[in-house]
Amino acid sequence: MTSKQQPKLFTPVQIGDLHSTPPLLGLHTGVDRQGTGDRQQKNKLKEYLMNTPVVLITGALTGIGRATALAFAKEGACIVISGRRDEVGQELVAELRTFGAEAEYWRADVRHEDDVRSLVDKTVARFGRLDVAVNAAGTEGKPGSVTEQSAESYAATFDTNVLGTLLSMKHELRVLLPQRHGSIINVSSTYGQTGAAGASIYAASKHAVVGLTQSAALEAAESGVRVNAVAPGPIDTGMLTRFTGTDERKAGLVSTVPLKRLGKPEEIAQMIVFLASDKASFSTGATFAADGGKTAR
Ligand SMILES: NC(=O)c1ccc[n+]([C@@H]2O[C@H](COP(=O)([O-])OP(=O)(O)OC[C@H]3O[C@@H](n4cnc5c(N)ncnc54)[C@H](OP(=O)(O)O)[C@@H]3O)[C@@H](O)[C@H]2O)c1
Repeated sequence: MTSKQQPKLFTPVQIGDLHSTPPLLGLHTGVDRQGTGDRQQKNKLKEYLMNTPVVLITGALTGIGRATALAFAKEGACIVISGRRDEVGQELVAELRTFGAEAEYWRADVRHEDDVRSLVDKTVARFGRLDVAVNAAGTEGKPGSVTEQSAESYAATFDTNVLGTLLSMKHELRVLLPQRHGSIINVSSTYGQTGAAGASIYAASKHAVVGLTQSAALEAAESGVRVNAVAPGPIDTGMLTRFTGTDERKAGLVSTVPLKRLGKPEEIAQMIVFLASDKASFSTGATFAADGGKTAR
């Protein structure tokens, strides 16, 4: 297939054919990008940045966020990953660069507005704009019945899952709305659509993510910015292992899934890449399930 026949996944700034613009360009192969006299290389870098979507991911160091970063790297995107563990962040940046992607890690705790503001500002300072934001940071909180919960356990879960999503969208939209293009994907859950015995606060927080997504989508629609959410079912990540606690409970959860297996983080990542792309150009304010049929029951 020639580059002209390749399907377009993104059209950031009306240019992008990711596959026709080789993402590699020797950017991480020891080429001196600041070197004098290398005008051609500088022009290639400029062209690369113009043609390549800039993707920001919170909660990017593990699980679904990490799989999403790798999926965008394989698409040749410029990627900013953020999280709270610097060493792990730098290791993932190195891995993303092996795919030829431009990648940066910046520390951000999504509960703190200064962190989130700075993360978005640094992204724009580094890459000139923002095209896609994936808000994957989340916590399972403290499992247990409603009668066991407290104001503290409520705040611990809502501060990350709800306030974190709100602050992330606030600062992402600060950039996306004036650009008049871009896409945000929040991570809700099947528990954003149903109740969850033993996970009431988590379920409430993921319902809130759906409400934030729908409201932001309505506010952003006039500018052409799209805001959607994914609703994963049980996905094989550290969070699910912490949430279930034992292999028996994990197996019990699998038995509730019509496809009779856990999802893989990569399966959620692929849906996120699709929602970010021009192939999902008429979708906004929607929540897309990837749950092995769990919510079809
Ligand atoms: N796994 C599932 O079955 C499932 C199902 C539905 C929805 N989800 C959602 O999917 C998203 C990703 O979860 P996952 O399954 O991939 O689990 P995970 O591996 O535990 O990922 C959660 C990530 O969020 C980060 N994080 C937590 N609090 C943060 C904060 N205050 N600021 C910045 N980062 C923070 C964590 O970093 P630290 O290591 O620093 O805590 C971690 O990297 C979450 O929103 C989760 O609710 C998961």
